Amino acid sequence: EKGGYDYFMLKEIAEQPKAVADTLLGRIDAAGSLTLDEVRIPVHELREVDKVVIVACGTAFHAGLIAKYAIEHWTRIPCEVELASEFRYRDPILGTRSLVIAISQSGETMDTLMALRHAREQGSKVLAICNTNGSTIPRESDAVLYTHAGPEVAVASTKAFLTQLVACYLVALYLGQVRGTKWGDEIQAVIRDLSQISGEVERVLETMEPVRELARSLADKKTVLFLGRHVGYPVALEGALKLKELAYMHAEGFAAGELKHGPIALIEDDLPVVVVVPSPRGRSVLYDKIVSNIQEIRARGARTIVIAEEGDEAVVPYADHLIRIPATPTLLQPLVATVPLQVFACELATARGNEVDQPRNLAKSVTVE
Ligand code: F6R
Repeated sequence: EKGGYDYFMLKEIAEQPKAVADTLLGRIDAAGSLTLDEVRIPVHELREVDKVVIVACGTAFHAGLIAKYAIEHWTRIPCEVELASEFRYRDPILGTRSLVIAISQSGETMDTLMALRHAREQGSKVLAICNTNGSTIPRESDAVLYTHAGPEVAVASTKAFLTQLVACYLVALYLGQVRGTKWGDEIQAVIRDLSQISGEVERVLETMEPVRELARSLADKKTVLFLGRHVGYPVALEGALKLKELAYMHAEGFAAGELKHGPIALIEDDLPVVVVVPSPRGRSVLYDKIVSNIQEIRARGARTIVIAEEGDEAVVPYADHLIRIPATPTLLQPLVATVPLQVFACELATARGNEVDQPRNLAKSVTVE
């Protein structure tokens, strides 16, 4: 059942190109428009949405953080992302024009379920993004967009995360499409790019051997830090979470701009720091900032592990280790940038002799609050 792989996690990492393609299947028509008829919230209601609130836990929360960038950019609707376990305790401001998106692989996470119940009590519409047919969260929501990752067995979420991202992009683009924004042409272009992305994920998977080697060489380290900006920031958080849960190492993700406000004090000689670098095309300010962040930490002794787009030569002098990913539009980069971090954590866990599919103290679906 592991299909020749040592662990379900390895199998599920390898299944990601298919999971991504399956989640797009039937949702983009021949003319390149989105058809999300299954989202049974009437178009006139979607046009009136004045706020999007995303609730989720763990890895699904990281997908939500990335979705915020896409939703706000393509739709100009304000979007909040909240840990489901915190949500209802702060008396959130919700109304009938709020769209609440609950993201959950299992569809059974109690924190997320309680958050969506709270939202519905306030009269908000709830859209579930879920991987498990007929589970509780979609049953209690107004609408559901299923991710088609197939069953995810390993406790650490991988392919479900990538498909959650795809589903979030679809929702963001769909909202942009039904409401009409000034980004119409960009939305069309991104839909085309999205339909190519499965092949790019495949290409990343083919180049992972150096990442495995690097991971093995770091097996006796105590701490690994992860830095990113913009959508690279949640990717950094996800890389750190994977490492905590699988390798039982101290790992933290930071927004690179926050370094100077404290975390830079952690940098010491030979400390591994993974940096997710945005595309040098387009948002050059963002790019320049992160290159100077890499210089700053390297000057203080960090061992830099740089994830950068193919063709990005400016980062080469500052990268002790360079991991290449294919060029994608900025907002889609998490789909390719997360993959090396999954492989990295999985290999480190193996090197440290940990049980990859069943990390200690964790359960696949957390049905208690
Ligand atoms: C991390 C992980 C957890 C889950 C979280 C939410 O690898 O698996 O952080 O993402 O418990 O679970 P779901 O998506 O089932 O609601």
